[in-house]
Amino acid sequence: MKKLASNTVLCVQPLPQTIVSCRDKDGKNNALVVGFVANVSLDPVMVMVGITPTRYSHHIVKESGCFVINFPKKSYKKEYGYLGSASGRDEDKFAKADIKWEDATYVDAPILTDCPVSIECSVVDSTMPGTHELFIGKVEAIHVDEEYLDANGNILWDKMDLM
Ligand SMILES: Cc1cc2nc3c(=O)[nH]c(=O)nc-3n(C[C@H](O)[C@H](O)[C@H](O)COP(=O)(O)O)c2cc1C
Repeated sequence: MKKLASNTVLCVQPLPQTIVSCRDKDGKNNALVVGFVANVSLDPVMVMVGITPTRYSHHIVKESGCFVINFPKKSYKKEYGYLGSASGRDEDKFAKADIKWEDATYVDAPILTDCPVSIECSVVDSTMPGTHELFIGKVEAIHVDEEYLDANGNILWDKMDLM
C-alpha cells in the first residue's frame, strides 16, 4: 500500500552528485555541491543548475555568466562534504580543502582536476520559479579523464565510481 509523502520532500533525487565551480570578478575560485542539475537541450547542448540566492556562489555565476559542472568520484567524499556545507562567504574553500584545479578552456572558471568529468558552461538564460535560480548553460566543452573515454570519444560512465 502506498502513502502520501510530505510535500516538502525533495521528490527528485538525480544521480550522480555534482560540484559546480565558478570564479568571481577578483579571480577567487569557489565551488558548491549542486543536486538541482538537469539536461535542457540536445541541439544546442544545454544543461541547467539550480542555485539559491543565499549561496555565495549565486552572485558569482550571475555576474560571471559561466560555471563548470564537475562529477566527483566516491573517493572525493571529504572534499564533497566540505564544499557542500562551508561557504565561500566565510573562507577560501579551495585553499582550505586544498582543492586541485586548472583553468577551463572556454569560460572563466576553474575545473576540479580530481573529478573525472567537468562540463564548461556559458549562461544563456535564467529563471526563478521558486527557491532556486535555474541557470541554463550552453555546454562549451566536456573534459574527461582519458581512461574514461572510448576510441570514439564516448564517455564510459559505468567505469567511473561516481558519487
Ligand atoms: C547533497 C547536496 C545537494 C545540494 N544541492 C544544492 C543545490 O542544488 N542548490 C544550491 O543552491 N545548494 C545546494 N546545496 C547546498 C550548497 O552546496 C551549500 O550550501 C554550500 O555550502 C554553498 O556554498 P557557497 O556559499 O560557497 O556557494 C546542496 C548541498 C548538498 C550537501
